[in-house]
Amino acid sequence: MTPMEAIEARISCRAYTDEPLNQGALDELRAYAEELTRGTNLRFVIVGPAEGGARLKLVKRMFTGKVSTYAALIGPDDNLTRERVGYLGEKLVLKATQMGLGSCWVAGTFDRKSVSEPLAAGEVLHDVIPLGYAPAKQPFAQRTIHASLRKRDRKPEALFQGPIPLVEAPAWIAAGIDAVIKGPSAVNEQPVVFVWGDERLTATLPYGKRDLEYTDLGIAKLHFEIAAEAAGMDGAWEQGAPAIFVPRG
Ligand SMILES: Cc1cc2nc3c(=O)[nH]c(=O)nc-3n(C[C@H](O)[C@H](O)[C@H](O)COP(=O)(O)O)c2cc1C
Repeated sequence: MTPMEAIEARISCRAYTDEPLNQGALDELRAYAEELTRGTNLRFVIVGPAEGGARLKLVKRMFTGKVSTYAALIGPDDNLTRERVGYLGEKLVLKATQMGLGSCWVAGTFDRKSVSEPLAAGEVLHDVIPLGYAPAKQPFAQRTIHASLRKRDRKPEALFQGPIPLVEAPAWIAAGIDAVIKGPSAVNEQPVVFVWGDERLTATLPYGKRDLEYTDLGIAKLHFEIAAEAAGMDGAWEQGAPAIFVPRG
């Protein structure tokens, strides 16, 4: 499965079977989490079955099934970190998807006390990502949650501020925006808007800048980059803020 296929296949999985991950899968996720955060001030800790005693407790009205493995995304408490957590954490989510695992970004609807990983001074637990096997069919309640959140999907044109209309913009921009809409965002807000000018694309947060929107921005940057490349436009995001995508092709 390519990264683009993983973007197409991923959904927030809110139902998990009891089947635990085997050691090989745990090792693969841990090696990848280590690779993603090497040289950063982030820690993506993969907590495996029965490690640290308690299981991750997710809010029952949103999730069903017992989650025995999850990623705890930990780092300093600032917005640039939140954005980096989004970008790198979504790489982990897409990797899990490629491995046939269900996953879900969870920032709010879980019991923080059930997370066993201790925090160092200056660190916060930004999000958790349950990792496990989805049942063949998501139960009705979880499908309803998904459908009601997805009703809020924005139109591609709403994510593009021009200055030209989206239909006149290069095709890789439209492809990137489609992949951003398919991506996860907190309460499916899809807060990131793109502006094109001087052969550069800027990703902005025009509707207000609540903490989680920075995580959404990081996720959007990754999805955009993957889809732009699949559409033939190799490019890269400049370091730091604002978020500027520079095409190389
Ligand atoms: C940063 C972030 C935090 C999220 N927190 C939660 C959460 O606390 N509980 C939950 O059920 N879903 C959470 N989600 C999942 C979103 O609701 C979901 O991505 C969105 O509704 C789109 O649906 P989809 O991921 O199934 O495509 C979160 C997503 C992101 C990106």
